[in-house]
Amino acid sequence: MRYPVPHFVSIVVLLLLLIPCISQSLDAPLSEDLLGLIVFKSDLADPFSKLASWDEDDDDPCGWDGVSCNPRARRVVELSLSGFSLSGKLNRGLLQLQALRKLSLARNNFSGALNPRLAQMESLWSVDLSENALSGPIPDEFFAQCRSIRALNLAKNGFFGQIPGSLGSCSTLVALNLSSNRLSGALPSSLWSLYGLRSLDLSDNSLAGEIPWGVNRLYNLRSISLRGNRLNGKVPEDIGGCLQLKSIDFGVNLLYGNIPESMRNLSLCSYLSLGSNSLAGEVPSWIGDLRSLVSLDLSNNGFSGSVPDSVGNLIFLKRLDFSANRLGGSLPESMGNCRSLIEVDFNWNSLMGNLPKWVFKLGLQRISLSGNQMTGAIEVPSNTQQSLTILDLSSNAFYGGIPINFASIYGLKLLNLSFNSLSGSIPVSIGDLKSLEVLDLKKSKLTGEIPTQIGNCSLLTSLILSQNNLTGPIPAAMANLTNIQIIDLSFNNLTGPIPKKFSDIPHLISFNISHNLFSGDLPSGNFFNTIPPSSVSDNPGICGGVVNKSCPGVLPKPIVLNPNSSSANSNSSNPVFSSDFLKHKKIIFSISVLIAIGAAALIAIGVITITILNIRVRSAAARSAAALALVDDYYSRSPSHDSNSGKLVMFSSNDPDFNFGDHAILNKNCELGRGGFGTVYKTILKDGRNMAIKKLTVSSLVKSQEDFEREVKKLGKLRHPNLVTLEGYYWTPSLQLLMYEFIPGGSLYKHLHESSGLIHLSWQERFDTILGIARSLAHLHRMNVIHYNLKSSNILIDGSGEAKVADYGLAKLLPTLDRYVLSSKVQSALGYMAPEFALKTVKITEKCDVYGFGVLVLEIVTGRRPVEYLEDDVVVLCDVVRGALEGGRAEGCMDERLGGKFPVEEAVPVVKLGLICTSQVPSNRPEMTEVVKILEMIRCPQDSLEEELG
Ligand SMILES: *[C@@H]1O[C@H](CO)[C@@H](O)[C@H](O)[C@H]1NC(C)=O
Ligand SMILES: *[C@@H]1O[C@H](CO)[C@@H](O)[C@H](O)[C@H]1NC(C)=O
Ligand SMILES: *[C@@H]1O[C@H](CO)[C@@H](O)[C@H](O)[C@H]1NC(C)=O
Ligand SMILES: *[C@@H]1O[C@H](CO)[C@@H](O)[C@H](O)[C@H]1NC(C)=O
Ligand SMILES: *[C@@H]1O[C@H](CO)[C@@H](O)[C@H](O)[C@H]1NC(C)=O
Repeated sequence: MRYPVPHFVSIVVLLLLLIPCISQSLDAPLSEDLLGLIVFKSDLADPFSKLASWDEDDDDPCGWDGVSCNPRARRVVELSLSGFSLSGKLNRGLLQLQALRKLSLARNNFSGALNPRLAQMESLWSVDLSENALSGPIPDEFFAQCRSIRALNLAKNGFFGQIPGSLGSCSTLVALNLSSNRLSGALPSSLWSLYGLRSLDLSDNSLAGEIPWGVNRLYNLRSISLRGNRLNGKVPEDIGGCLQLKSIDFGVNLLYGNIPESMRNLSLCSYLSLGSNSLAGEVPSWIGDLRSLVSLDLSNNGFSGSVPDSVGNLIFLKRLDFSANRLGGSLPESMGNCRSLIEVDFNWNSLMGNLPKWVFKLGLQRISLSGNQMTGAIEVPSNTQQSLTILDLSSNAFYGGIPINFASIYGLKLLNLSFNSLSGSIPVSIGDLKSLEVLDLKKSKLTGEIPTQIGNCSLLTSLILSQNNLTGPIPAAMANLTNIQIIDLSFNNLTGPIPKKFSDIPHLISFNISHNLFSGDLPSGNFFNTIPPSSVSDNPGICGGVVNKSCPGVLPKPIVLNPNSSSANSNSSNPVFSSDFLKHKKIIFSISVLIAIGAAALIAIGVITITILNIRVRSAAARSAAALALVDDYYSRSPSHDSNSGKLVMFSSNDPDFNFGDHAILNKNCELGRGGFGTVYKTILKDGRNMAIKKLTVSSLVKSQEDFEREVKKLGKLRHPNLVTLEGYYWTPSLQLLMYEFIPGGSLYKHLHESSGLIHLSWQERFDTILGIARSLAHLHRMNVIHYNLKSSNILIDGSGEAKVADYGLAKLLPTLDRYVLSSKVQSALGYMAPEFALKTVKITEKCDVYGFGVLVLEIVTGRRPVEYLEDDVVVLCDVVRGALEGGRAEGCMDERLGGKFPVEEAVPVVKLGLICTSQVPSNRPEMTEVVKILEMIRCPQDSLEEELG
């Protein structure tokens, strides 16, 4: 060794002497950092004491939360306080941290302006102030004096004003993120001189103007997002020069023109979004050159032409969104090669053709083809991959059935096939879709019943089956859908009650069953108490608080319609009476259970009616007696006065020779009967003719003279052999009389139920009576008159045994067709009143007469009253007869007085006809013209019928 020992020793000694000096020079700056941090903290609110470890008495901040030091140089090099919930200003304290390289204060609540001196800090290369409440313009000096900043993130603050032109001089920048501020103005073209820039995010501001040219100078650029601004003009033609680009997002701007051809060079690009602009032209066929594409969004533009086959080259493509363009043609088969595809969205284009096979083969998670013109059957292969979660084929022209193989797609969450022409029924396998959350089958041509299995789809939140031809009841199992929020079954032909358990469904927010044939009480409970009436409207049998109509105390049994009508004959609105009926009369009438109706409902209506009756009859009787007395009194005092002011109109030419000064006209002794609308007296005219005069007792309710006369004249025009003719009327404000032809022979009621009547009405006579009534009603309905008050006491039998229907159309004389008034006026039509009278929401149509007619038919053939009141029981004729029919004992309920003398082949069909006419659901009752035809056929011997039909 050549070095002398003393020399070596002296170097060591020198070092030892120097150490304290060195360590002191290290400590001084650290305490400066400590001071800076304490000053920084002093301006902050720290609601969660995240900076509790920042103790002023400490002499080493390197252990403090969020603070990192360089272990050798012992300087604070990193401050990471992201998500510390700090509020306050960024004060001078930060500027003390001379060695700071990385400052991350993201996701706090820092406010105030951006201090330009931050950019001047010598070592600082990464600044993340994103997601704070900083505001003001970005100062020009910030970029002009920047030293070493490479990454700057000011996203999600409140910065406004223009992006300073000085930006271009901050040439150290590699990543710039100014997204989600309120920056406005044009993009400075100096932007393109940031040669080192790799990532540029200016999205979600209010930047306007055109995108300047020269972007190709940024040859390092990997990612650019200008999304969500108001940029217009074209996509820069030179963008294809940025060969490193992996991600381009120009979506949600006002860009127009074509996709520039230079982009075909961007073979590294994996993310391309040009969605929501005004771009147009064809999707270029070179799109297939962008081999790296993983996500391609051209949605919501004006692209036309067809989807290029070359899309099939994009084997890494996962997401494709071409929705809301004007693309036509059919989906290319080549897309079957896009093996990575997960989501395809072609919603709202003009695509045609069939569903390509690849749709269910690629293992897609989401398929959206809504709003196109695609057609053909939906064919789901049985080995369909289970990854599919969203399938939206709505608003197309698909037809055929819903494939049962859907059931193999266990993971399906949304199935929307609405607005197509799908037919057949909803497959029971729908219940296997255990993940299903939304099922929308609105407006197709589905028939059949809602499968009970739907109750197995326990995650279902939305079930929309409206506007189909569905029939049958709501499956009780649907009450098991505890997550359901929206149920829409409107515009179908569903029947039966709403299951009571529905009141237990916890999250229901919308329930629409309007325009169906539902009946019975609505479930009670919070949701159902507030349901808007429109959600249940147009259901003939619905009652409950919503429809403002109290329900019968007894719950109606389900209405079970003809079990054969739902599937096989569902196209025919009324299978029993379709034209097929003519050919298969025998078969149809031999179906034993044609219609079974909720017995209890009828009983209950009966009970209500009795109650009303008891109250009303007493008061009505009292009232009319009083009125009559008054009238008599009035006439006796001033006959001439009233006959002068009153108006007498006779429809026939020969006016009767009488005047109302004659007391005898309304003589109590000549009273023929009383009804809901008035009392009828017999009077003999001076020419010896008899006439029946009805004095209306509803005078306070009668319309104005004008309306009264119009209605009465309409009734006066009616002429039919089976109608009692209205011959004239008399009107004063206080008294209204209707003059009818007088029918000797008494009422049907008398003949059937009173010993004073003709004891023996033969089968032939009864059948004739039924036919006569049917014909008169058919005539009334043809003339648009509803009888409203059909009952056996309003059927008169004339001298030749012909039935004559009286008292028709008088309800129209009431000021409004108020059904409360109506039902109380026709109260005495006990047991004849169609159930819809009790329901406010249901329109009263001529079908209410069909109901009354049905009751009459049963009354005539059995000789029993429609409702019989026993000590503690109410017997409803329809139910008795129906029970007998189902038990095969129909003949047994025929009137004993017939002595068994009736042809069974006539009697049984007549009984069945009566039952069909008393169907609870108005639309299930036949028209009166159909009834007449049927009766005429029942009457014909079978042979001649067949002859007639050839
Ligand atoms: C954010 O800071 C402002 C004051 O600068 C304060 O009023 C507000 O309550 C803070 N918000 C939160 C969430 O701390
Ligand atoms: C910009 O910052 C925001 C907020 O932190 C972030 O969501 C966004 O992804 C950033 N952009 C880029 C390109 O990293
Ligand atoms: C649905 O019912 C209506 C009326 O009955 C009918 O016009 C229509 O053809 C039916 N549709 C199908 C698919 O059965
Ligand atoms: C509802 O679910 C319960 C328990 O899962 C089951 O026992 C019951 O049968 C279901 N109800 C109907 C009507 O399917
Ligand atoms: C329901 O059935 C009636 C006849 O029964 C028919 O007139 C009506 O069009 C049907 N409605 C629907 C939506 O199918």
